[in-house]
Amino acid sequence: MATLHLGDIAPDFEAETTLGKLHFHEWLGDSWGVLFSHPADFTPVCTTELGMVANYYPEFVKRNTKVIALSVDGLESHLKWIKDIEEIQNVTLQYPIIADPDKTIANLYDMIHPKANETFTVRSVFIIGPDKKIKLTLTYPASTGRNFEELLRVIDSLQLTANYSVATPANWKDGQDVVVSPAIKDADIPAKFPKGFTAIKYYLRMTPQPNK
Ligand code: BEZ
Repeated sequence: MATLHLGDIAPDFEAETTLGKLHFHEWLGDSWGVLFSHPADFTPVCTTELGMVANYYPEFVKRNTKVIALSVDGLESHLKWIKDIEEIQNVTLQYPIIADPDKTIANLYDMIHPKANETFTVRSVFIIGPDKKIKLTLTYPASTGRNFEELLRVIDSLQLTANYSVATPANWKDGQDVVVSPAIKDADIPAKFPKGFTAIKYYLRMTPQPNK
């Protein structure tokens, strides 16, 4: 599988998951989606990640975003592992984990990087929009657990910039000022951004977050 790029349609697939069989695109429906992979079941960092996502689950729901994990082990193994995750982190896993023992989906999404590890997937993340297009990809090594607050922050930015002619600056968090898109002329700003703007440079114009 060639590398997937931003703007590509996220490949569709059928999968066995811990919450039953699903067709990916059908399961996504009109929601945003986060597909994230794990090197293997019963591994320590993955265990903390899956529990953390269960903790943040209501935040994903608030953002109309479905989350789904993938690990290249079988269903029986996943179901046993979930018991550990729930016990250790005092959570209930509300989202599915894909069973992918033959690595069909891992290969479809280019999640196996043989020079890092020939068997296991890296920690991939795909954020997918309601149009089924890939909006973000991240690739972390097995040794680094991901920061799920960062994923929520990116979803906030993606959802904002999908609806307004703005971009979000470094370390931006929901509620903070945003950058007016360079495509907007100064003369057109008052109509589009009635809260006003500050020109720090002609190419760097800040405005209060328009949907707050
Ligand atoms: C882990 O999830 O803990 C892990 C998996 C593979 C290599 C190193 C750590």
